[in-house]
Amino acid sequence: MAKTKTVYECTSCGHSEPKWLGRCPECGEWNTFREAAEGGASDTRKRGAGKKSVPLPLGSIQPKEDTRFASGIDEIDRVLGGGIMKGSTVIIGGEPGIGKSTLMAHIAGRIRSRGRVLYVSGEESAEQLKLRADRLGIEGPNIEILCETDLDQIVRTLDAVKPVLCIVDSLQTLVSAEAGAIPGTVNQIKYCCYEISDWARNHGAAAFFVAHVTKEGSIAGPKVVEHMVDTVLYFDQAESDTRIVRATKNRFGSIDEIGLFTMTAKGLVQVKDPSHIFMQEREGDFPPGVTVAPVYEGSRILLVEIQALTVPAKGSMSRVFSDRIDSGRVSRVAAVLEKHLDLRFSDHDIYVNVAGGIRINEVGIELPLASALYSARTGIPVPAHTAVAGEISLAGEIRPIPHLQRRIRAAAELGFTNFVGPAATADDEGGRGTWRRVSRVRDGIGTIFGKG
Ligand code: TYD
Ligand code: MG
Repeated sequence: MAKTKTVYECTSCGHSEPKWLGRCPECGEWNTFREAAEGGASDTRKRGAGKKSVPLPLGSIQPKEDTRFASGIDEIDRVLGGGIMKGSTVIIGGEPGIGKSTLMAHIAGRIRSRGRVLYVSGEESAEQLKLRADRLGIEGPNIEILCETDLDQIVRTLDAVKPVLCIVDSLQTLVSAEAGAIPGTVNQIKYCCYEISDWARNHGAAAFFVAHVTKEGSIAGPKVVEHMVDTVLYFDQAESDTRIVRATKNRFGSIDEIGLFTMTAKGLVQVKDPSHIFMQEREGDFPPGVTVAPVYEGSRILLVEIQALTVPAKGSMSRVFSDRIDSGRVSRVAAVLEKHLDLRFSDHDIYVNVAGGIRINEVGIELPLASALYSARTGIPVPAHTAVAGEISLAGEIRPIPHLQRRIRAAAELGFTNFVGPAATADDEGGRGTWRRVSRVRDGIGTIFGKG
């Protein structure tokens, strides 16, 4: 028998070294090196070695019809791009305790009317799963529970049960004797993910892999299998009860959509009308530093409240503290205000938050951010019933943003009567609606604060 060489592999990023190290030189994580047999992950290819593949003319390929089915949970179907694809594989990542197993139980409960569901649990006992299902009101028929971590056993059960949906909770618990002796290594995760995905593809079933993420927010270990699956979803917490599902990779749909849920005593409840869930009721003017913005997330408009605070810098260097809006964007907008409004930010520390805790990447947040920063720095509040949207260029121009009409309508529905934003784009539903159009950041701030 050929002697296998031992290498040490980082369980976080997959980097390998001939000797054990305390800290991974690649990703910087501590205590992540585990012993692994060299070449283990590439063994995953050996099973297919006997198969012969022939090229097909593109025109001769007939795509199968009816390849998607609804999960029955609209918020999930939207994020997946219109339902679950048969034969597809999905990773759902999130911090421990966020509700991944609860979401999987809800999906199992809906899918069981289409066929059998196999729920493989490597973390919780069958009794724990049953208690959760009872709490969520999920009934038993067609849902099989397998408390197992051994890959061979799981594949044998898949062959016997032939489910339409296989849920693996979690990917990090799986082990196979073929991928080295130690559970949780990169080889193990890759090998087990590959084998179950292969089974799902060959049997037209869907597979969902639950994966835990580290405090930095990346899928630890399973990061190395993101390329093997079709879709990667992240389950994120906004406010205490609000949960957001986002796709970071999707072979069968866009990655712009978000799914919104509230965690209740009876499990996850879908948020049907999300436009105001991040808003707080207020009377009169806003407190200084607050501006409301209609932002476009996925296919929907959400109204969010941006809060800014500026205080004289504590150190010799001013700093930006913002984890909901990219701090580079905050610095850039502050620099534009400094240049075009003669307002000094460079000797102030800046704190920025989005109420409700949702992360915003959209460009339309820039004029509202400028407004919140101006209000915080000057102490002048934004007048009541004012909503703002727009992108800002480095030259201080307000640039058009998509879906202006829908934003104005969504803001109007929540009682905002004064809307400040850029000129409409040509494709923006004819450019109707009433709002105060601004083209430069100076006019924008003047108009919002009633000086323009
Ligand atoms: P869980 O799905 O076990 O999280 P994960 O699999 O991501 O680790 O859910 C954990 C939390 O959700 C737990 O703290 C309890 C809460 N929860 C509810 O509030 N209501 C419910 O109906 C359920 C099932 C859980
Ligand atoms: Mg769980």
